[in-house]
Amino acid sequence: MFDLAPYNTFGLHVGAKNLVVVKDLASLENFDDERYLILGHGSDVLFTDDFEGTILVNAIRGIEITDDKDYYYIKVGGGEILDDLIVHLLNKSIVGLENLSKIPGTVGAAPVQNVGAYGVEIGDYIEQIDVFNLKTKQIIHLSQSQCEFDYRSSIFKTQRLCHYFISHVHLKIKKSNEFVLSYKELQELDVKDAFAIRNKVIALREAKLPDPRFIGNAGSFFKNPIIDEVKLKAIRKIYPNVPVFTYNDQKNYYKVAAGFLIDKAGLRGVTHGNAGTWEHQALVIVNRGRAKPHEIVALAKYIVAVVKDKFDIYLEPEVRIFGAKGEIQWQDI
Ligand code: EPU
Repeated sequence: MFDLAPYNTFGLHVGAKNLVVVKDLASLENFDDERYLILGHGSDVLFTDDFEGTILVNAIRGIEITDDKDYYYIKVGGGEILDDLIVHLLNKSIVGLENLSKIPGTVGAAPVQNVGAYGVEIGDYIEQIDVFNLKTKQIIHLSQSQCEFDYRSSIFKTQRLCHYFISHVHLKIKKSNEFVLSYKELQELDVKDAFAIRNKVIALREAKLPDPRFIGNAGSFFKNPIIDEVKLKAIRKIYPNVPVFTYNDQKNYYKVAAGFLIDKAGLRGVTHGNAGTWEHQALVIVNRGRAKPHEIVALAKYIVAVVKDKFDIYLEPEVRIFGAKGEIQWQDI
C-alpha cells in the first residue's frame, strides 16, 4: 500500500494499492488497470478509505507561450503548479490570473472544480483542454464551451469523466486585459498593478485560510449555496448583513456565504475529535493532527445538519470524495 498522506492536503493517512507518476502520455498507452483515479496535488479531495486501485499523479510539465496582435496563447502541462504558472505569466507582464494567487494545486486539477477567487475563475481564460481518454487511448480536444464551466463545476465533475486525463490546458489572455477589482479589498489598493493585486490576495488568503503544509485542510469544504429570494429575505430578517454575491447574473438567485451561515450557527473554530473548523474561516474543515477520515465526514455531516436546521439551507461539499472503489456522492456516505 502507498501512503497517500503526501497526496492529499488533508494529510490523511489512507492507502492506495498502486501509484504512478505520469510525466508523459506515452506512459499511459499500456495502462489497463480497471480501477484508478487521477490526482494533481490532492488539494480538493477527501479520502474516506484506502483506495483499491491505482492513483495516477499528473506530472506533465511545460509552459509554451505564443501570441498574435491581440492575444497570448499559453499551453500548460496539467502537472504544472498553478501558482508557479501565475508568477511565470506576471513576470512576462501577462495579467489575468493574479486574483487566483496561491490557490493550491495543479493546472490540470484547476478546471475540474473551475477554481476561483476574488471575482476570477480559471474557466474564464481557458480556450481548450487536451485530454487523454484512458479507455480509448485517444487524445480529445475540448473547447471552453464543451467544458461547461460553472461555479466550482465543469463537465469533468458533473459527468464524472474520470477516464479523461487532462494533459494540457490552453489559456487565451487578451493583451489589453484589465484587472478584476470587483472585491472591496482590491478596490482599496493604492497601486493597482498585477503584483500589488497578487500580494493583496496572498495577504487576504493568509489571514483567513490555514496553510495545508502545517494544518491539513482542503480549502472551502462546502460550496456557497445558491438560494432564491424567499430564502434570502428570511435570512435577512435575522441577519441584514448576510454576505450575498450574484450568481451568473441570474435574477432572483443569490450565492450566500456558507462560511457566514456556519459561523452564525455557532460552528466556527469548533473541535470534534481530531477534526475542526478553522478559527478565521468556518467554511474550512481542518485536520487538527491525527484525524481519521470518518472524523472529517462526521463533522461535515454535523455542520450540514445544523445549518439545515437553522437556515433551511442544504450545504453541499465542494471537495470531491473518494472511497475504496472510487468517487462517492455525498448523499451515499
Ligand atoms: N464569513 C463569516 N464567517 C466565517 C467565514 C466567512 O462571517 O467564518 C463571511 C466573511 O466575513 C465574508 C463572507 O462570509 O463577508 C465571505 O467569506 P470569504 O470572503 O472568506 O469568501 P467565501 O465566500 O467564504 C469564496 C471561495 C474561496 C475564495 C474566496 C475569495 C467558495 C466555496 N469559496 O469563499 O475559495 O478564496 O471566496 O474569493 O466559493 C476554495 O474554494 O477552496 C476557496 C478557498
